[in-house]
Amino acid sequence: MITIKGLSKSYGNLRVLENVSTEINKGEVISIIGPSGCGKSTFLRCINLLERPTGGEITIDGQNILSRNADVSKLRQKMGMVFQSFNLFSHLMIIENIMLAPVSLLKVPRKQAYEEGMKYLEMVGLGAKAIAFPDELSGGQKQRAAIARTLAMQPEIVLFDEPTSALDPTMVSEVQAVIRKLAADGLTMMIVTHEMKFARDVSSRVFYMDEKGIYEDGSPAQSLIYPKNRGPGLL
Ligand SMILES: Nc1ncnc2c1ncn2[C@@H]1O[C@H](COP(=O)(O)OP(=O)(O)OP(=O)(O)O)[C@@H](O)[C@H]1O
Ligand SMILES: [Mg+2]
Repeated sequence: MITIKGLSKSYGNLRVLENVSTEINKGEVISIIGPSGCGKSTFLRCINLLERPTGGEITIDGQNILSRNADVSKLRQKMGMVFQSFNLFSHLMIIENIMLAPVSLLKVPRKQAYEEGMKYLEMVGLGAKAIAFPDELSGGQKQRAAIARTLAMQPEIVLFDEPTSALDPTMVSEVQAVIRKLAADGLTMMIVTHEMKFARDVSSRVFYMDEKGIYEDGSPAQSLIYPKNRGPGLL
């Protein structure tokens, strides 16, 4: 589904990613762990072109997304992104936040966008909050609304960048439960997380990143418990 070859990214003289290659297959749930500042967010942001890689190739469904004639907005629609900080529009009701992109980008009729949006809100347990404003929601509810908004664009893959690290501990599990459900439904996901137990339980594969690249790529047991390329396991 996604093939990454020799991916590099520098900010000025700072080389964050160097010659990273991997493949992501449909239906995989990949957790990305690793120390702060090693380039996990940069890696996700290169995949959905929020950052322009300095070198290498990224192919999605056979299309090189870094080529000059790639249709970037179409490619972005295939990839949903969920951020640590929710990024909901505070002046719009929750259901309006969810309808916005389907109506404006996909030209879905408002009524249909509403009905589909409600379906996603119910899926994340927020059917009753459709006409609330983001400020009226808890952090965990906001993040679940942000996930519903991402799903409403029917992405082929969803990239999560530390979706629970801005939340109080009591709210972490409700957001993780939604992600687990999506994993059980077969959605392809990449999840940057510091939650080792969650990574172990939800993922089919775990990447351990450190300076400039991926040092472990294997099952949760391989990457977390008996890593080949670094010190003792993390669990
Ligand atoms: N826009 C930018 N301009 C310059 N340097 C940047 C930029 N974004 C990130 N960096 C630097 O690149 C390196 C990797 O950052 P990145 O945010 O990808 O790390 P991370 O693994 O996601 O860390 P964390 O776990 O703290 O979120 C860091 O040294 C960071 O300071
Ligand atoms: Mg980060």
